[in-house]
Formats: sequence, structure tokens, C-alpha cells
Amino acid sequence: MSRVAVVTGGTRGIGAAISKALKDAGYKVAANYGGNDEAANKFKQETGIAVYKWDVASFDGCRDGIAKVVADLGPVDIVVNNAGITRDSTLHRMNREQWDAVLDTDIGSCFNMCRAVIEGMRDRKFGRIVNIGSINGQAGQYGQVNYAAAKSAVHGFTKALAQEGAAVGITCNAIAPGYIDTEMVQAVPKPVLEKIIAKIPVGRLGHAEEIARGVLFLVADDAGFVTGSTLSINGGQHMY
Ligand code: CAA
Repeated sequence: MSRVAVVTGGTRGIGAAISKALKDAGYKVAANYGGNDEAANKFKQETGIAVYKWDVASFDGCRDGIAKVVADLGPVDIVVNNAGITRDSTLHRMNREQWDAVLDTDIGSCFNMCRAVIEGMRDRKFGRIVNIGSINGQAGQYGQVNYAAAKSAVHGFTKALAQEGAAVGITCNAIAPGYIDTEMVQAVPKPVLEKIIAKIPVGRLGHAEEIARGVLFLVADDAGFVTGSTLSINGGQHMY
């Protein structure tokens, strides 16, 4: 029996690497995406992974999207809450829309997605939830009060849900990536990014595959004793 995994934001960046790694390891994978049809269709053609479009910031969107995945692939055993956005700005310039967009997408999605699968996981007494947090949720970051608040909340959410799931076979863990060579990080102004890289002891940006490797560890059937933990994968930039 191969387990069914849903990866949000699973067709680009870190999410694409996670979707591919799960498929290569034998899981049935549904890669969710929010808006970029072109990238999603290219990803589907290249990998053979099923793609599903819904907005993770929408409660009803997640409920309906999960129902479609269940109809196509079977009950969901694994959720990787990876989808996330930035709207970087210092607080004195940030508007309410930039705050709401990041909070709704980066932490609201964890509620929406987990709520859509939790009852089935509890009934079947098995679940693996991995939430992608961030070094910037652990350490804070100039220009990111919205993102740092949302990602910090991801880590609190993870520890609370881990306690609720422990007795019914559901683990909930977080990964806190550092700066990974994705489009999101490449959008940081070059001089700022250079300063950031200079502070990474390993001396380079991370690769998306290095995050996927952590996900594979956490979702395994025999990882049942690992719950409520945060795996930092950041090149030594922040030791938490
Ligand atoms: N680290 C070190 N210095 C930083 C910095 C950072 N992260 N962000 C800004 N600074 C510095 C700038 O280099 C600049 O210094 P100088 O005056 O010496 O040149 C000073 O702070 C002011 O910055 P700006 O001139 O850029 O100010 P601005 O108001 O024009 O722009 C900003 C502000 C939009 C926040 C811009 O600085 C920015 O985009 N910073 C990057 C924020 C960031 O790190 N985002 C991470 C995105 S990737 C991600 O979030 C994924 C993940 O999980 C790790």
C-alpha cells in the first residue's frame, strides 16, 4: 500500500523538490498550486505528478481540494504545508493587505489544510503532518514582521497539534529552512542577499532537495516517535 501525500505549493521551489522526492520514494503524490498554471502544467508533464489548483488561504478551497484528492488517489496520510508567500516591507511602510496576505497564506493555510484531513487521520489512526516554517520565524528578520510572525506561529501550531495527535498515531513536525536558492530568495535585493549569505557558516544558499530530504525522514512510517520537533536546515546560520 503506498501512502497518499499532499504537498501545498508543490509545483515550484522547495515544494517541487518535496513532491519529486516523495514520488521517487514510492508515495502517491498530489501537488497543490495556487495560481501559476504554466509552471504547474510543465511540472506535471516533466514528473507525472498530479497537480491540483486551490488557494490554501481559503478554508472552503482546502476542503474541496482535499475531497478531490481523496476521490482520485485515496485517503490522505501525509500533508506537507509548504505553500508560503512574502510581502517584505519595513513595518512603517507595511499596509494591512501585506499583513493579511502573508498571515492568511503562511499560517492560515496550516489550519485550513489540517482541518480538512484531521478527522480522517484520527479515524485511521495514522497521519504525518510536516509544516514548513522558517529561520526567519525563529530569529526574526528585517523587513518581515508579517512573515516572521506567520512562520513563528507555524512552529507553535506544530507543537500544539503534535500533542493532540500523539495518542492517535498522528505526528506533526516542522522544518525551518534557512535561505534556499529558490525564486523567493532570489527576489531579495542582491546587496542584501550578499550580506545574508556572508552570515551562513556553510558559505552558500541551501538547495531545495536538502529540505526534501528532511521531509522524507519525518513522514516515514517508522518516524512515529518524532513529533513536535523542529528540524532546522539552514547551513548553521541560526542554531536554535
Ligand atoms: N540582513 C542584513 N541587512 C539587511 C537586511 C537583511 N536581511 N535587510 C535589509 N538590510 C539592510 C540593507 O542592506 C540596508 O543597509 P545599508 O543602508 O547599509 O545599505 C538597510 O538594511 C536598509 O534596507 P533597504 O535600503 O533595502 O530598505 P528598503 O526600505 O528599501 O527595503 C526591504 C526594505 C524591502 C525589507 C528590503 O531590505 C528587503 O527586501 N530585505 C530582505 C528581507 C529578507 O531577508 N527577506 C527574506 C525573503 S526569503 C524568505 O523569507 C525565505 C525564508 O524563509 C528564509
